[in-house]
Amino acid sequence: MKPTHFYTEANRAAWDASAPLHGAGADWEALLEAAAKPDFSVLDDCLTQTLIELDVHGKSAVQFGCINARELLSLTSLGAVPALGVDQSRAFLEQAAQLARIAGSDCQFLCADIYDLPENTPKHFELGLITIGVLGWMPDLPGFFARVAALLTVGGPLVIYETHPYLEMFDPNSDQAFTPATSYFKKEPFVSEEAITYDGTDGGRTPASYWFVHTMGDIVTACAGAGLMLERLTEHPHSNREVEYDQYERREPQLPLCFTLVARKR
Ligand SMILES: C[S@@+](CC[C@H](N)C(=O)[O-])C[C@H]1O[C@@H](n2cnc3c(N)ncnc32)[C@H](O)[C@@H]1O
Repeated sequence: MKPTHFYTEANRAAWDASAPLHGAGADWEALLEAAAKPDFSVLDDCLTQTLIELDVHGKSAVQFGCINARELLSLTSLGAVPALGVDQSRAFLEQAAQLARIAGSDCQFLCADIYDLPENTPKHFELGLITIGVLGWMPDLPGFFARVAALLTVGGPLVIYETHPYLEMFDPNSDQAFTPATSYFKKEPFVSEEAITYDGTDGGRTPASYWFVHTMGDIVTACAGAGLMLERLTEHPHSNREVEYDQYERREPQLPLCFTLVARKR
């Protein structure tokens, strides 16, 4: 393993290089159009239900790895207040600012590596959000959750809605897609030089990016170690990631595909 910043700096370059692929085209135009509507939300039923049950109305929210803020801004439809989006990709935060303007939101954005937040970063947020495709970019999970916990108010819930680590054992693009391809306990990161796209299209080459697999035990233990008290952990049979993972849904036997974790800062 190299130092944390080696990986986060490489990942920042890969995300910045991928950003133009996300900020143009029909999907982006549709997102801009949708964001202008008062009930704008890209949150799926599962995450929406979790947030309704937590009664997020009026709560100030921070999202870690907010990308273009489509989810953070969606919280308005549930009565929460999108307050801060943290992401280290300046190129994506430019898209976030554009989306926020169109949505009429005052949400602020902080361009920083989560491991290196400025001292004056606002704190005491009443709701923290981490969604699909964030934990895997974090080389050091205990360090990550320590930074997350520091920004939350005591008693404030952190909601994680992420891919299930068990799914990382499978390669959806292999002709043996249902045979485990890598160890659940893989410690070395996956390395990729492909542009990061969500729809399976080939976006060309980017600088190398590094994706880490954290077991469910790693995730829960890192939360607890950061003073985040586990309130709920639910594993789901549906997929919340790229379209090629849809093949793992509605199977018998069924793999766990994603999970919801709710923890509160002590
Ligand atoms: C897969 S995206 C999140 C997608 C989001 N859940 C959605 O569905 O809209 C992951 C984001 O995390 C950001 N990120 C990765 N590592 C980071 C770090 N160390 N500090 C801050 N942001 C980071 C990336 O720049 C990227 O925007």
